[in-house]
Amino acid sequence: MAFSLVFCFDLILLVFQSSFIETSSSEQHKPFQFAACDVFCHGDLLKTIQMSKIFQDSKHFVDMKLKNLPNITIDNFKKFMRSKHDKPSMDDLELFINDNFEDSVKVFTEWYPKDWKLKPKFLDHIKNNEFKIWGSDLNRIWKTLGRKLIDDVYNNPDLYSIIPVKNPIIIPGGRFLEFYYWDSYWIIRGLLYSEMHKTARGMILNFLSMIERFGFVPNGGRIYYAKRSQPPLLAAMIESYVDFTNDKKFAIDNVGLLEKEFDYWRKNHVVVVDGHILAVYGDNSTGPRPESYREDVNNSLVFPTPKLRQAYYSEIAAGAESGMDFSSRWFINENGTNQGGLKNIKCRSIVPVELNAILYWNAKIIAKFYSMADNAEKSMKYMFYAKQILEAIDAVLWNEDAGVWLDYDLINKKSRNYFVPTNLSPLWTNAFNISNSGNISKRVLDYISKLRLNNHPGGIPTTLVNSGEQWDFPNAWPPMQYIVVKGLENLKTPEAGRLSKLWGHRWVQSNYEAYKKAYKMYEKYDSEVFGGIGGGGEYNVQTGFGWTNGVIIEFLVKYGREIKPLKTKQFGFI
Ligand SMILES: *[C@@H]1O[C@H](CO)[C@@H](O)[C@H](O)[C@H]1NC(C)=O
Ligand SMILES: *[C@@H]1O[C@H](CO)[C@@H](O)[C@H](O)[C@H]1NC(C)=O
Ligand SMILES: *[C@@H]1O[C@H](CO)[C@@H](O)[C@H](O)[C@H]1NC(C)=O
Ligand SMILES: *[C@@H]1O[C@H](CO)[C@@H](O)[C@H](O)[C@H]1NC(C)=O
Ligand SMILES: *[C@@H]1O[C@H](CO)[C@@H](O)[C@H](O)[C@H]1NC(C)=O
Ligand SMILES: *[C@@H]1O[C@H](CO)[C@@H](O)[C@H](O)[C@H]1NC(C)=O
Repeated sequence: MAFSLVFCFDLILLVFQSSFIETSSSEQHKPFQFAACDVFCHGDLLKTIQMSKIFQDSKHFVDMKLKNLPNITIDNFKKFMRSKHDKPSMDDLELFINDNFEDSVKVFTEWYPKDWKLKPKFLDHIKNNEFKIWGSDLNRIWKTLGRKLIDDVYNNPDLYSIIPVKNPIIIPGGRFLEFYYWDSYWIIRGLLYSEMHKTARGMILNFLSMIERFGFVPNGGRIYYAKRSQPPLLAAMIESYVDFTNDKKFAIDNVGLLEKEFDYWRKNHVVVVDGHILAVYGDNSTGPRPESYREDVNNSLVFPTPKLRQAYYSEIAAGAESGMDFSSRWFINENGTNQGGLKNIKCRSIVPVELNAILYWNAKIIAKFYSMADNAEKSMKYMFYAKQILEAIDAVLWNEDAGVWLDYDLINKKSRNYFVPTNLSPLWTNAFNISNSGNISKRVLDYISKLRLNNHPGGIPTTLVNSGEQWDFPNAWPPMQYIVVKGLENLKTPEAGRLSKLWGHRWVQSNYEAYKKAYKMYEKYDSEVFGGIGGGGEYNVQTGFGWTNGVIIEFLVKYGREIKPLKTKQFGFI
């Protein structure tokens, strides 16, 4: 299997490059390396400290500050290891860390967004008083999530694992104290509704600068995230920004960089299925994830050879690139099912519906921006890419038997008939033929009804498998609700519209029930409990929380005239 797959990838790249990349669109991206990567991304120092269990959370060490330049630190480490005959005790290691690293350095300081408004107009859309106050609280939370890098990071970038960016940011919250890529789509939409245009623009400019530096937007704002991306939503962020501000010049000025990002996905992440080009998640690093080093090493031990262990690390990193780390969605068992655990992760061999739906969207947005720039040739080229992607989605991912789009398993050459909200993502990005919306609506609603997806009082679950991973049952995540609610709405049939609204209302009401208990917003919730919060996975549930707040603000605007807090806990069935 592994052999044929590797062969298949090479062939695909050949086919792809010879027949589809007909222009010299943008320059190749050069690998970008940070000096501090020698300490924080790979090597013996990282391994020794992360495996020593000195820090409970592996992310702790890779976020420390160096006291000396990376090369000096590495030299110090070599000398240290020699002096301890390669067998340092815990005490020795602690001393070494104290000598060479600074702990608890706040690389970000709190930052008060100057464009923050006490009474953004979106509040006028909310009729119910409790919800109006909640909306106002959510608007206030932006102020607590604003962060700006300290000057020392700009002056001494080599001493930090942070990727320096110019503009202040809104972070997700909790343990996530830097920017994260796909989170920012919902954060930026929330900011736009809150009339914080300048903050949103600054964040977008940060992302654009990453494309200049890396050729893509890294998963998050640390150098150890810079070998992988996340679902590519920058084009959609800019489209939102332009929709809200009508700043067409911003679109025109930056379309070239969006093209560069599109190119990165097209060149590094493609597979061919039945003659159709589709994208998969992937990653270019070797070894365990620095920020989860010990966990990855431990889990890799079930594999007998270094080669298989490396394959495992690559699958894990690909899973992290998907943003859905981790989930039974990425498991392929020996018998081709999704049963098992992390050792069964085969993310690189699964064609994900939403990635292709998002790339379709990117092509459409790039075409639109080129059209604004009066560049008909480029616009047509991207319309052509969009058409190609749509054909591939229709041919490979739409499943006529299931009546919905499904991920595709490249190993067993079959659709994966498991529920994930992303199965509906082509509806969200309009990657379907609207002329067929009547038929599609009927099929998709039958699918939803057959799986009884309306029976979950706390939101749509991520999957129907309770694996203990955080992107599985019973967790319900804000972006997944958004994808489904927007998607059903985009079908523009009365039935899909009703369900969209029912689920949109339910999400707002259940989030509010959770909010009332502790005045907190969470990164994920429990689909089984009205007002319940999420759990499972690699860390405790976090509060804050960027994308949660963004989704709720948008839904409050959408439903504000009609929605009220829910008193009863009874739910209807469809
Ligand atoms: C360490 O790297 C810096 C540049 O980053 C260089 O100036 C210095 O000479 C290097 N020191 C050693 C000991 O290699
Ligand atoms: C990994 O890097 C190599 C060399 O820079 C490049 O050719 C390849 O396409 C990259 N793959 C991914 C998945 O980024
Ligand atoms: C190590 O991996 C095993 C499975 O291989 C798992 O059962 C155990 O919980 C892991 N331990 C830690 C500390 O991650
Ligand atoms: C697939 O394998 C798993 C164990 O690896 C087993 O639990 C499951 O029943 C099998 N499923 C099928 C359909 O054979
Ligand atoms: C959309 O569907 C209509 C009706 O089935 C068909 O005529 C048209 O060619 C389709 N458009 C595309 C782009 O596939
Ligand atoms: C709609 O569905 C009917 C049968 O359910 C089928 O005959 C027809 O071709 C479909 N139309 C389109 C445009 O897919």
